[in-house]
Amino acid sequence: MDIKKVGVVGAGQMGHGIAQVFAVSGFDVILRDINDNFVSKGYERIAKNLDRSVEKGRMEAADRDAAMARITKTIEISDLADCDLVVEAATENPEIKLQIFRDLDAAVKEGAILSTNTSSISITKIAAVTSRPELVIGMHFMNPVPVMKLVEIINGLQTSEETYALIEETTKKLSKVPVKAFDSPGFVANRILLPMINEAVYCLYEGVASAADIDNVMKLGMAHPMGPLALADLIGLDVCLSIMEVLHDGFADSKYRPCPLLRQMVEAGYLGQKTGKGFFDYK
Ligand code: CAA
Repeated sequence: MDIKKVGVVGAGQMGHGIAQVFAVSGFDVILRDINDNFVSKGYERIAKNLDRSVEKGRMEAADRDAAMARITKTIEISDLADCDLVVEAATENPEIKLQIFRDLDAAVKEGAILSTNTSSISITKIAAVTSRPELVIGMHFMNPVPVMKLVEIINGLQTSEETYALIEETTKKLSKVPVKAFDSPGFVANRILLPMINEAVYCLYEGVASAADIDNVMKLGMAHPMGPLALADLIGLDVCLSIMEVLHDGFADSKYRPCPLLRQMVEAGYLGQKTGKGFFDYK
């Protein structure tokens, strides 16, 4: 099968970036969210990103116009019926995701691949609610999607090698680098990244150093492009907490216990960049 038409479910922080890279790479894209406001906001963010690329001389204006023309907006899942591949990038809530996969399984043509950008929910569990578990796979993009080269591709227990091979080839067409992982809590990226972020929160919680200094240690001492607390603010503290909980529950190992301060920040509504306040202020 040749993938030409791609549905992206969710036009938020990850979904709009995923739609952008597919459209720029020549795929037809249908961008779907639950209301016109969300889907239009995602579409406008793509337009703004591509305008910046043109201004910076990285892209021809004609290529920007062609990429934008390849994107269709919708709020109906039924409009994804003839997609060859769907990438789900909706909210990281297991019940919502499982329902989306039931709906996609019913709406999208037979033989199409259903993938999820989940950062931690089991691919095996998602695949099991569909009638095509061998065609369900994880495509885990990194934030910001247009910039980060990695796509972690995750096989559930039921995913076929043919599905993996096609997704690996498609990832390369996006000029991204695929890495193969098997379904396991946090996969690879978040199993390593989130405990580091959680440990940085513990350093702050225990008064070992200030937030700015903790981040400076990792930026200036380890050449990380941004510190772990600023990165947590970029990812979203609610997402960080839910990934730590998946690791903690999945491995039943106390080394993954979320820092109480991370939990408090989420309870306070300090979720990072998206709410204007996290470990740092963004207003
Ligand atoms: N969308 C598109 N492009 C963006 C962007 C965005 N949201 N944010 C930054 N960029 C581009 C900028 O346009 C800029 O490109 P040019 O220099 O060509 O103009 C380039 O990225 C660098 O941006 P800045 O100069 O503004 O800032 P920077 O050099 O500090 O880089 C950063 C910003 C790319 C975010 C960098 O700090 C970085 O790589 N940080 C680490 C990000 C990271 O670890 N991501 C993974 C998060 S984990 C995850 O996503 C998985 C999960 O499940 C939780």
